[in-house]
Amino acid sequence: MHLAVLLFTSAVSVGTFALDNGLMRTPPMGWLAWERFRCDIDCEHDPKNCISENLFIDMADRLSEDGWRELGYVYVNIDDCWASMDRDEKGRLQPDPKRFPGGIPKLARYMHDRGLKLGIYGDMGTHTCGGYPGTPLDKIKIDAQTFADWEVDMLKFDGCYSNATEQEQGYPLMSNALNATGRPIGYSCSWPAYQGGLPPKVNYTQLGKICNLWRNYGDIEDSWDSVLNIIDWFFENQDTLIPAAGPGRWNDPDMLIIGDFGLSMDQSRAQMAIWAIMAAPLFMSNDLRTISSGARSILQNKMAISINQDPLGIQGRRIIKEKSGIDVYWRPLSKDDSALVFFSRRNDMPYRYQTSLKKLNYTTGSYKIFDVFTEKTMTLKDSTDFVVSVNPTGVVMWYVSAPAKLSLRQLYKGGKLQGFAYDDDENNIPPVFL
Ligand code: GLA
Repeated sequence: MHLAVLLFTSAVSVGTFALDNGLMRTPPMGWLAWERFRCDIDCEHDPKNCISENLFIDMADRLSEDGWRELGYVYVNIDDCWASMDRDEKGRLQPDPKRFPGGIPKLARYMHDRGLKLGIYGDMGTHTCGGYPGTPLDKIKIDAQTFADWEVDMLKFDGCYSNATEQEQGYPLMSNALNATGRPIGYSCSWPAYQGGLPPKVNYTQLGKICNLWRNYGDIEDSWDSVLNIIDWFFENQDTLIPAAGPGRWNDPDMLIIGDFGLSMDQSRAQMAIWAIMAAPLFMSNDLRTISSGARSILQNKMAISINQDPLGIQGRRIIKEKSGIDVYWRPLSKDDSALVFFSRRNDMPYRYQTSLKKLNYTTGSYKIFDVFTEKTMTLKDSTDFVVSVNPTGVVMWYVSAPAKLSLRQLYKGGKLQGFAYDDDENNIPPVFL
C-alpha cells in the first residue's frame, strides 16, 4: 500500500515537473527576430524587413548557404507580432494571413528540408508584450497542441499580462502540455525575468526541471551600455546562476547583437567571448543578408563556439575584478581544458595587464594557449608572468589546454617506474607572450 502510494506520487511528480525532451544538451544556437526586426508589420512599405514568412525564409537561406548551419546555428525563431488578432473558429492561434500566407507548417517544412529548426513565440498571459493574443491558463493545452501540429521545434514563452500566481501555474503547465504532445519542443521560459531573476521569488531548481532555457533579466538593446549592464547583472549574481545551468537547462542573457548598429568590433568580440564563458544560448538577432564580414567572422569563430558548446555545460565565472578596470573570466571545459577572458572596462587605450596562470589559480604545469581571435598559439608555464594587451571595451580570449598528462609509456620505460614525466617537453617554452 505504502509502496503503491509512493510509486503513484513519484509518477505524478515526474509527470508534473520533468521536461523530458532530451533537447539542448549544449546551449541552443540560431537566429531570433526580435532585437533587430521588432514588431515591424508594415509589409507594404518595408517588405524586406517586416515580420512575414519572407523574412524567415531569407534567414533560413542565409543560415544554410553561408556556413552558419554547419557551425550549429540551426534555429530560426519567430518572435512577437506573428499572430492574427483573432483565434480561429476552433479556438486556435493563427498567423496573420497576409504576412504568413503559407501558414506556419509551410515555414516548418522549409526549415526541416534544410536541416534547420523553427521556433515560435507565445505569452503566458492574456496578451503578448506587443498586444497580440496570449495564452492564458485555459488555452495552454490547445496552444501546445497547435505548435506541435505545426511541427514547431521550440517555444519562447513570454510573461507579459499575467501575475506571479498565474505564472507559477502556467509555466509548469505548458512544460507538461508540450511533453504531452509527444513532439520534442525546446522550451524557453521568460518567467524568471518577470520575477526579478533571483531567489526566493525564482526557483532555479524547478526551472531546470521544466524549461530548457530561461530569460533571467531585461531585454537587450542595440548598444554597448545594454550589453555591459547584462554582463554585470549576470556576474554579480553568478553564485546563484552558475549552479542553475547545465546540459538541457541554460541561463539566457538574451540575443547576440553582433552585426547590428550598436557595437564596435572590439565590443562584438567581447559579447561573443562573454556569451561563450556564460554557456549562453547563441541566438543572433541581426540581418544575415547584409552582415559585414567582420561581424560574421566573430560569430563564426570556431573556437569561441566550441567553448560555448563545451559538453560539460558548466557556466563560467568572473574570477577577478581589478581596480584598473580589467576583469578576468574563466570557464572550466571538458578534458581539464579551460577558457579565459581578459576584459577591459576602460575607455582610454589598450591596457597592458600583467599576471600569471598561477595568479589565476592554475596548478603547476605548462599549458598550451590558443588565442581565440588572433589564432596565435603559445606555451606558458603557470609561474611565468605574461602581459596581455586588452583594447578599451574589448577582450583577449584564450583557450587553455590542460598540461599533458603523465605518460604511462614514459613512466614505465623498460618495465621500471621512471618517476614523473610530462608528454610535453617543459623546457620547450618560448619566452615572450602576447
Ligand atoms: C518581451 C521579451 C522580448 C520580446 C518582446 C516581444 O519584451 O522580453 O524578448 O520577445 O517581449 O514583444
